[in-house]
Amino acid sequence: MIYVILVQRYKIIHYSLFTIHFFLYLCKKYQQYMENLELKSVIKVCQMEDLNEEERHLVELAIEATNRSYSPYSHFKVGAAVRLENGVELSGSNQENAAYPSGICAERTTLFYAGAQYPDVGVKMLAIAARGTDGELTEEPTGPCGACRQVILESETRARAPMKILLYGRKHVYVMEGIETLLPLCFSEF
Ligand code: THU
Repeated sequence: MIYVILVQRYKIIHYSLFTIHFFLYLCKKYQQYMENLELKSVIKVCQMEDLNEEERHLVELAIEATNRSYSPYSHFKVGAAVRLENGVELSGSNQENAAYPSGICAERTTLFYAGAQYPDVGVKMLAIAARGTDGELTEEPTGPCGACRQVILESETRARAPMKILLYGRKHVYVMEGIETLLPLCFSEF
């Protein structure tokens, strides 16, 4: 009787161990196919006074441009400013339209304007600022939308150099060395 019980117990232990091992084996195999690819983005967080004169001036131009936004539908006023390789500074704002998709963001207004006026001059730096629906400059920096990120990437490709990006917020300013920070695994050529 005791003998039968022992055998049965050991069988249970044996099967349990087998199941655990098999489970661990499957987990390992699964991990081989599901490795994590970690993408790192470095954004410097600073205050206006930490920026150099050129950078601060460009942010001020972007802030100023928010006042020329045409945004009767969203009431979200965005301003952008660029500094070209030849030192020229240009700014633009979002321009909306009753047929919503016909409107355009501040970044694209500005970059397309730069491309139209100076087709052979690269854009070195871009600053973005925005006023919320309360009319105040946003506390947090405003990031460019996906479509604008793609357009920024194309400007970098044309200039063959990364574009410094400054995102203004009342609390802090984000500084990044190029669009790759905001557009990992980007599509740039085919
Ligand atoms: N907008 C920009 O101008 N830039 C951005 O990066 C985000 C959004 C504008 C588009 C629209 O006129 C308004 O903000 C609300 O989305």
